[in-house]
Amino acid sequence: MKIDFSGQVALVTGAAGGIGRAVALALGQVGAKVLLVDIAKEAGLQTQSLIENIGGEAMFVQADVSDPEQVQNYVNTAMQTWGRIDIFMNNAAWQGEIHSLVDYPLEVFEKVMNINVRGVFLGLKYVLPIMIQQGKGAVVNTASLGSFLATRKLGPYTASKHAVMGLTKTAAIEVARKGIRVNAVCPGPVDTEMLRDIEASQATGSAEQLRAQRTASIPDGRYADPVEVANLMLYLASDLSSHITGQGIQINGGSNY
Ligand SMILES: NC(=O)c1ccc[n+]([C@@H]2O[C@H](COP(=O)([O-])OP(=O)(O)OC[C@H]3O[C@@H](n4cnc5c(N)ncnc54)[C@H](O)[C@@H]3O)[C@@H](O)[C@H]2O)c1
Repeated sequence: MKIDFSGQVALVTGAAGGIGRAVALALGQVGAKVLLVDIAKEAGLQTQSLIENIGGEAMFVQADVSDPEQVQNYVNTAMQTWGRIDIFMNNAAWQGEIHSLVDYPLEVFEKVMNINVRGVFLGLKYVLPIMIQQGKGAVVNTASLGSFLATRKLGPYTASKHAVMGLTKTAAIEVARKGIRVNAVCPGPVDTEMLRDIEASQATGSAEQLRAQRTASIPDGRYADPVEVANLMLYLASDLSSHITGQGIQINGGSNY
């Protein structure tokens, strides 16, 4: 069976980079109209051009996902432009800084929570009512391996990704009889800007050495490509996964967690 989202409207947060850009492009390739949301304007507009260059339809809206008014604005823009929201890739996040908990600056902790938890919550709060009215919708939150496992010096990020699973499970059971499914993808390391930033901050030697050690510990010997995560997100947004809801699906090259 082929995934075809012609006539459907998708919303992607964090669409300027990494996994968000990959899933936005994948959605454009299978016919969805895509509203691209990110705080980064230039790179967000580049994602829009990439989709238009392959003949797709996309519109970029600059927004900070932790601000309720800006979230309402991106949801309203999708509704005013295309009149519906079928798919919501609730994906934007920030890794924070690398410190042990006792040294972690409170303002950085709060920023991580605001983007990763409040941002995901606000997206659900304003998108789900539209899907409930439609009696149809699929949400894919981007959680993480960090939803299950702790990493030293990434405490707030880890806590935030555990929280994303809590929101995913709660939303799923609240809308399960309204034609809406809510799932999460839980990637292990994915080769994006975020991972390169984390490696650069964690490395005691070179970031390349750290990367070689880490990829060697993954059963298939490599990090994920963002496109591979995007493929899973597309599956979870499609009717191929019609009985899957409230789940956090791991994509990690064979690691057992
Ligand atoms: N890269 C990995 O190894 C990995 C692993 C597991 C989960 N994830 C998750 O995947 C998702 C995407 O991350 P990525 O790896 O593509 O990283 P990335 O840094 O390439 O992309 C994140 C995007 O979110 C945007 N963003 C950050 N703060 C924002 C805000 N306040 N409002 C709007 N947009 C904002 C950034 O501008 C960026 O474009 C995140 O939820 C991340 O936690 C990544």
